[in-house]
Formats: sequence, structure tokens, C-alpha cells
Amino acid sequence: MDNLRQEIEKRRTFAIISHPDAGKTTLTEKFLLYGGAINQAGSVKGKATAKHAVSDWMEIEKQRGISVTSSVLQFNYDGYCINILDTPGHQDFSEDTYRTLMAADSAVMVIDASKGVEAQTRKLFKVCVMRHIPIFTFINKMDRDANDTFELLDDIEKELGIATCPINWPIGSGKQFKGVYDRNSKEVMTFADTLKGTKEGSEKIIHIDDPALSDEIGEEFKSQLMDEIELLDGASADFDMDLVTKGELSPVFFGSALTNFGVETFLQHFLKMTYAPTARQSDIGMIDPFSEDFSAFVFKIQANMNKNHRDRIAFMRICSGQFTAGMEVYHVQGGKSLKLSQPQQMMADERKIVDKAYAGDIIGVFDPGVYSIGDTLTTAKDKFEFEGIPTFAPEHFARVSLVDSMKRKQFVKGVTQIAQEGAIQMFQEYKGGMEEIIVGVVGVLQFDVLKFRLENEYNVQIRLENLPYEHIRWIENKDEVNVDTINGTSDMKKVVDMKGNPLLLFINEWSIGMTLDRNDGLVLTEFGRN
Ligand code: G4P
Repeated sequence: MDNLRQEIEKRRTFAIISHPDAGKTTLTEKFLLYGGAINQAGSVKGKATAKHAVSDWMEIEKQRGISVTSSVLQFNYDGYCINILDTPGHQDFSEDTYRTLMAADSAVMVIDASKGVEAQTRKLFKVCVMRHIPIFTFINKMDRDANDTFELLDDIEKELGIATCPINWPIGSGKQFKGVYDRNSKEVMTFADTLKGTKEGSEKIIHIDDPALSDEIGEEFKSQLMDEIELLDGASADFDMDLVTKGELSPVFFGSALTNFGVETFLQHFLKMTYAPTARQSDIGMIDPFSEDFSAFVFKIQANMNKNHRDRIAFMRICSGQFTAGMEVYHVQGGKSLKLSQPQQMMADERKIVDKAYAGDIIGVFDPGVYSIGDTLTTAKDKFEFEGIPTFAPEHFARVSLVDSMKRKQFVKGVTQIAQEGAIQMFQEYKGGMEEIIVGVVGVLQFDVLKFRLENEYNVQIRLENLPYEHIRWIENKDEVNVDTINGTSDMKKVVDMKGNPLLLFINEWSIGMTLDRNDGLVLTEFGRN
């Protein structure tokens, strides 16, 4: 029992969010370096060597040289056991990226210092806010010319609506990057650009009152720093751990992942400011992570595209207790007990079979086709279901039609199965039948996945006709409004999902506003409930 508590208490499970190219992979790699999980920088995702760390799953992935799935990496550092959840960007951005955030206890937001808040960060941030999880900001690439620091913070506050509290403060940027000032210890850590890929730094730590500081960073930078500190102390929000925990205040750090500057300091602060897994909401109340009973929920299902292994892996986040290999658990939604087979975990650049895992950890188990996104598994006597995972708004829509209409049965089976895994969302015309299927995806690559899988697994050829819609809204008060009489803009489309919920598709935000104006009392949301 004590061992269980100890194991869980040392766990930290967080997701890294950013816009592509902000430096997420580089930062992750540096974290792993500190944890000793990898020996050499470049082994997580060497773009140059085209070596992909954790996924050898899919044909499409190989063809396109990108990673389709979110990966989970575990490493140990300073007595902690850390799980990092990657949230893929680029073209492989998908609903899975959002779902991964449901499994995290906190998020690290990486921002490029010369760009500020970018589109993908904004999208992922919304999900973090919905979950009220702590959000830490790492402003990266300080070794390149950066935007004004106050402007960067202002941008985060205005764009994302979260208060910021810089824990350290940069001195210069680009060729003139001198280091960072720690507001708490009142010390400057000087920057030395000789650290690429290595663990040890040659930074110096100098107290702000030490006269040697002027020599080190130059008089001009020192006086600028003094001015900025004064301004900052007057203007910025006070550090408040309670607000950080609620996700209302983001501690901000500056650094350069590539040169490995400020990364370890960030990691150390982060670990101190976050907690071990906390209780999760279920239909019978909060579930204590330290409970002896194992419980977990499925947040991602990944089909293996290797023709020799037509299996699926269900990724689950353990929320309480301990998992041991071969243990029997109750699958609540399926209504039966089953053995979790082939449990796997990702360690840096390999997958391994695990025999023990604890609350906070993520495991992937073999799925013979029984799990759905959001399902609960537990050994507790009193069965319960964890709060469901919302359906995230797709941004791309296409009408799907069959090339050979004789294949209708396989087609419906295939699309339904793929939708159940959560790779796509399936809709029908409002008051229409199954003749016409509209598919919605968060990332366009999912259309290719759908086409590829229908051909390969179900022997069905389809045609996809792109539709111009970019926004979907669930009708929050669907029982109170008459969907027939909703008076939208002429380009609005009414559809229903597979559970019969009515939804509205729009081409732009303006049409949404217009529709809301025209229909008094109509409440629309961006997240659907499962
Ligand atoms: P991502 O996962 O968020 O998409 O970003 P990634 O880490 O792949 O970094 C994107 C590019 O930015 C990479 O360069 C990387 O080397 C660079 N980078 C990351 N952190 C820093 C930093 O602190 N300073 C500077 N100057 N550059 C940084 P690339 O040339 O696109 O890729 P690669 O060929 O070097 O892998």
C-alpha cells in the first residue's frame, strides 16, 4: 500500500502543446536527456535522419514521413516518474491530439519567441481551459531574435485570456542573448551557446547585486534588466499557486531548447509546481487515485495498418490504483470482465511490454474491437463510469460516396467502425438516410486514413467530395428548440450524428453569429457530449 502511494505520488503526467516548429520535439528531447532516457540528442525525431521514434504503425505514415499518432514517453528524473504526452501537429493534427489532452494532468505550452501565440496553440489551449488544468509556458528560441518580452506576455494574455507570471526574465535575445534572471532567487543564469545536445551546461549563476554581473552581461543590458524588473514587479500578476493549479495563471519561462538553455531550470520548477495525479470525476463522484482499485479510461484507439497485424491498440490513462500484467478488469461499457493483454508503454524510442503501471501512467493494450473512446475499466466492486470524453469539433467535411454500390454493407460497417475508433465523425443529412454520409475530421489527413483503410480492410472504394464547411456546432438545448424551424444563413446545413443529435454546419464564424442573432434562445457549443 505504501509502495502504491509512493509510486503514484512521484508521477507527473503532462502534455506538450504548441504550433508546429515552435520546438516541442526539441524540448521533449532535452527533457529525456536529463532523465537519462536517451543518450544522444536527435533520437526522438531526427527529421534529418527521417527516423521516427515511437511509431512504426502505418503505411501512410511511412509514405508521408510523418507521425500520425500521439505518443507517450516516460522517463525518471530526480525521483519523479514523468509521462509526456505528445500532441502531434503539422498535417497529422487530428481529434486524437485533442483527446490526448484529456489524459494529461497539466500542459506545457511551447511558444516561439519570434512568433507569439499561433493557431494550433490557440486550439489546444481551449481544451486545456475546458479542463481547468495547469498550463506552463516555455517561450523558446531566445537564441534567435525575439519579440519584445512584454509584448509576448501581452499576446498570451490577450489571445488566450490567461494571466501570466514570468518566473524568469530574458536578458536580450538572438546574438545578444545574455541569459535569464530568476525573479525568486534574484540570480542571473548566463547563456553560453556551447551546449547543443549535451547535459551539462557552462552557465554561470550571478546574483543581481554582484558587481561581476555588469562585466558578464554588459552595463547596458544590466541597466535594461533593472528597469524591466521594476516595471515587471509593478505590472505583472503575483505568483499564486492556487490560480496556477486551477489553470488561471500560467507561470512563464524563457529559454532555448536547441542550445539546452533554461530547460532543466524549467523542468525543476515545473515539477515543484505540479501535483501527482488528482481525483477524477465519475458518475459516482470523485475517484481517488490512491485507491487500491485499479481504474482507467480509454482516450485513444489506434488501428494497426500493418496487414499482418490487423489489431488495434487502445490507449488508456490509469486514474487509480495499480495495473499488473494479466490482471482481470471489468469493462464497464462492455458489461464484462476481460484480461488486459499485451500492455505496452513507450520508453523514449521503443515500445516495451509493461508488467506494472500506476495511476498517472498511460498504457496501450491490445483491443480485439471491444473498446470505444471514453470507456472505463476498473477492478472496483462498485462499478462506475468516468466522465465521458467530449467530441471535438471537426473542421473539414466531405461527402462520401461509394464507387460500387453493391458494397454498401461493407461500407457502412467500415465507416461505422472507423468512426467508433474516433478517427472520423460521421453525419447524415438532417432527416435524410444512410444513402448520403458526411464525414467530418479535425485534420485532413484523416480523409486519407479513411480512404486507405476502407480500401485495405474492407475492400471498398470511395469518392470524397470536399464540402466548404469549417465550423460545426452542437445544439446545447436541443430538447428545448425545434430544429425544423431554426432559421440560419443560407449556407448553413443541418445534419445529425450517429446518435441522432442535431448539429449545424457553417462556412464561417459570421454565419454562426448571424444564426444566433436570428434564433432567440438557441445555445450552440463547440464540444459535443458523448
Ligand atoms: P516542433 O516539434 O514543435 O514542430 O519543433 P521542433 O522541435 O522540430 O523544432 C523546429 C525547428 O526549430 C527545428 O529546426 C529545431 O532545431 C528548431 N529549434 C527548436 N528549438 C530551438 C531553439 O531554442 N533555438 C533555435 N534557434 N532553434 C530551435 P529545423 O531546422 O526545422 O529542423 P531540424 O532539421 O534541425 O530537425
